[in-house]
Amino acid sequence: MNHLLSIEALAADEIQALLTLAAELKRQRGGPGAQPLAGQTWALIFTKSSTRTRVSFEVGIRELGGHPMFLSKNDIQLGRGEPIKDTARVLGRMVHGAIIRTFAQQDVSDFAAYSNIPTVNALTDDEHPCQILADLLTIREVLGGWDGRKIAFIGDGFSNMTRSWMWAAKHLGFELAVAAPAACLPPAEFLAALAAPNVSVSSDPTQAAMGAHVINTDVWLSMGQEDQTDKEREFAGFQINAPLLSHAAPNHLVLHCLPAYRGKEITEEVLELHANTIFQQAENRLHAQKAVLTKLAESSI
Ligand code: CP
Ligand code: NVA
Repeated sequence: MNHLLSIEALAADEIQALLTLAAELKRQRGGPGAQPLAGQTWALIFTKSSTRTRVSFEVGIRELGGHPMFLSKNDIQLGRGEPIKDTARVLGRMVHGAIIRTFAQQDVSDFAAYSNIPTVNALTDDEHPCQILADLLTIREVLGGWDGRKIAFIGDGFSNMTRSWMWAAKHLGFELAVAAPAACLPPAEFLAALAAPNVSVSSDPTQAAMGAHVINTDVWLSMGQEDQTDKEREFAGFQINAPLLSHAAPNHLVLHCLPAYRGKEITEEVLELHANTIFQQAENRLHAQKAVLTKLAESSI
C-alpha cells in the first residue's frame, strides 16, 4: 500500500490486514511499540475543521516515533491560491508523508501523484476512508465481524461517509441498506459503477432499519454545506430515534462518526444510550490510523 486515498481503491485483503494490525496495535498500546516513523516528519494539511482526525493522527504519528506538522490552509500559501501540485512538490522534498483533509478528492490524488510521498485521505467530499476503518474495527470488536449482519446507513445517501460505506460493502460483501431522502440518494451512475447487489438504496428508513444489526448515521449537512438549510428539511423522518430503532435487531449497535447534532440526525437519548460504542468508535480512529501509517512506512522503505 503506497497511499490511502479511498476505500474504493482498497482490496478486501488490505482492509482485513489493516484491521488485524490495528487490533494488535491497540492491544500493545502503552508498551514499547515499534517506531516505524522514527526520524520522520508527517504533514497534516487541513482545509476543513477536525477534532478526532487531527488529534488521532498527531498522537498516532508521535506514538510511532514520528513528528507531526499541522498546516491549516491559513498557515500555508495553499490558502492564498498556490496550486496543490506545487504544494505537493515542495512538501514531497521535505517531509516523509502527508495526511490531507480537503474538499476535492482530486486534490488528494494530485498531491499523492506530485509529492511522491505516502498520502492519506483524512476526508474529502467523496470519501472518509480512515473513519470507515475505525467503524469496521468497532464492529469486529463488538459483534465479532460483519458476516451475516445487516448494516444500515440512514441519512445523507451521497455523503463521504455513505460512499465509503458502500465501497466497503462492495469489497467485504456484507448487506448494506442505505436510506436517504429522495434529494440525497446516490445517483444512478454511481450505483452502476459500484455494481454491488448487496447494497440497497431507498427512501424508507424503517425498511433499512428492519432487522439491522448496525445502524449508522452522520450529520445531515456535511462540512461545506452549512448554508444549505433547505436541504436539512428533507431529512424529517430520517432521525435515529427510539421508534426507528424498535425495528432493528435485538442488541443492535448505533454508530456515529461524530460530531453529532442531537435533535437532528440522532436524539440525545439514543446517543447517550449508545455512547460506549460511539466513543469506542472514535477511539478506534487512533488504532486504525496507526495501522495505516505502519503499512505506509513499510511500503515506502
Ligand atoms: N469523524 C471525524 O472525522 O471527526 P473530525 O471531523 O472531528 O475529525
Ligand atoms: N460527512 C461529514 C463527516 C464528518 C466527519 C462531513 O463531511 O462533514
